[in-house]
Amino acid sequence: MNMTKAINWVLILSLITLSFKLASKDKVGEQETFNNKDKTEMKTLLDRTEAGNLKMKNRFVRASIEDRTRQGFIDKDKTTQLYVNLAKGGVGTILSGYTVIDESEKDMNIFAIYDDKFIDQYSDLTKEVHKNDVNFLMQLVHLGSNIRDNGNLNHKILGASPVANLKTGIIPEEMTKEEIKDIVDKFAKAAVRAKKSGFDGIEIHASHGYMLHQFATSYYNRRKDEYGGSRENRYRLTVEVYETIRKAVGKDYPVWIKVHSEDSFEGGVTHEDCLYISKELDKRGIDAIEISGDFWDFRGNKAYFRNIAEKIASEISAPVIITGGNRDFTEMEKMINETNIEYVGMARPLMQDPEMINKYISTLQ
Ligand SMILES: Cc1cc2nc3c(=O)[nH]c(=O)nc-3n(C[C@H](O)[C@H](O)[C@H](O)COP(=O)(O)O)c2cc1C
Repeated sequence: MNMTKAINWVLILSLITLSFKLASKDKVGEQETFNNKDKTEMKTLLDRTEAGNLKMKNRFVRASIEDRTRQGFIDKDKTTQLYVNLAKGGVGTILSGYTVIDESEKDMNIFAIYDDKFIDQYSDLTKEVHKNDVNFLMQLVHLGSNIRDNGNLNHKILGASPVANLKTGIIPEEMTKEEIKDIVDKFAKAAVRAKKSGFDGIEIHASHGYMLHQFATSYYNRRKDEYGGSRENRYRLTVEVYETIRKAVGKDYPVWIKVHSEDSFEGGVTHEDCLYISKELDKRGIDAIEISGDFWDFRGNKAYFRNIAEKIASEISAPVIITGGNRDFTEMEKMINETNIEYVGMARPLMQDPEMINKYISTLQ
């Protein structure tokens, strides 16, 4: 090899090495850019996301508002109009009013789904609502001793222990293990009916003083068996309800829960309790957790459950919805960017103005 050839070879090798280096730098650069983009990209309230299998067209959730019925039978026109108006108003996901799963509570005259006879009315309703590109989930409840006495309370009121309800004064009868199992089965059957009716998922109502919330407190729950005492025992019923529903509806069907974050009375639910049940259900595959609490006492124009919702969102992988006090869109957007909270629930604002999401969207254009 002469000198010129040797120099050429050195040049060629240097060029090859340089281009390899540049190529790999580019890749690192791309990677860095991608990661940085991930970290710095602003979340917006209109992001399209997924909560489990459910596609969410924006981050707004209409939190549940009670619907009036005649022993569970809806006024078809009025109810359809209400939900279609909400759907047309731009909210991405709607939770129905709480729905009783046990026939004994039919005289509360709210939504009911304790029997197959209700499937037709909800099938018609979900069909109409779904014409408007919206998710529609049914909220399931057992009221326990937190039940209005309309003068027709003829049924046996069930509860964890015979402790007078702080709101209603009603003293329930302590549930036997068979009665507990029966309620769990009723939740699961109700969830299957909701699925058959075309709802996109269900939400278990474990907040606001109803049966599952009552079991979770050491105030109402004085049981000595495996459903009372330790935190694990007090939440056993909630976990069983979730697991039995999951088994009944399958792993792909969205199952959410609304949990109570804190009580203002001694022996009530604490933040630690709420974090505990959120983690337990997260491990078991819950699709979303809505954080709630006493909304009547803390009315205000700010997200008053933010601290605990933020903590839970940072410790679980299921998406967290925060409900209560969301009024200011700028604040909501700031909150979802400062925390891992993914969705914002609103009840009263959308009750007053179902069009408010569209109005918000129009301000951005
Ligand atoms: C009239 C009314 C009815 C409600 N009905 C339900 C219900 O059926 N299920 C439920 O989980 N919460 C119910 N809530 C509570 C709301 O879902 C929500 O948690 C609470 O109002 C706080 O949110 P907001 O500040 O956006 O109104 C109801 C609230 C109101 C004002």
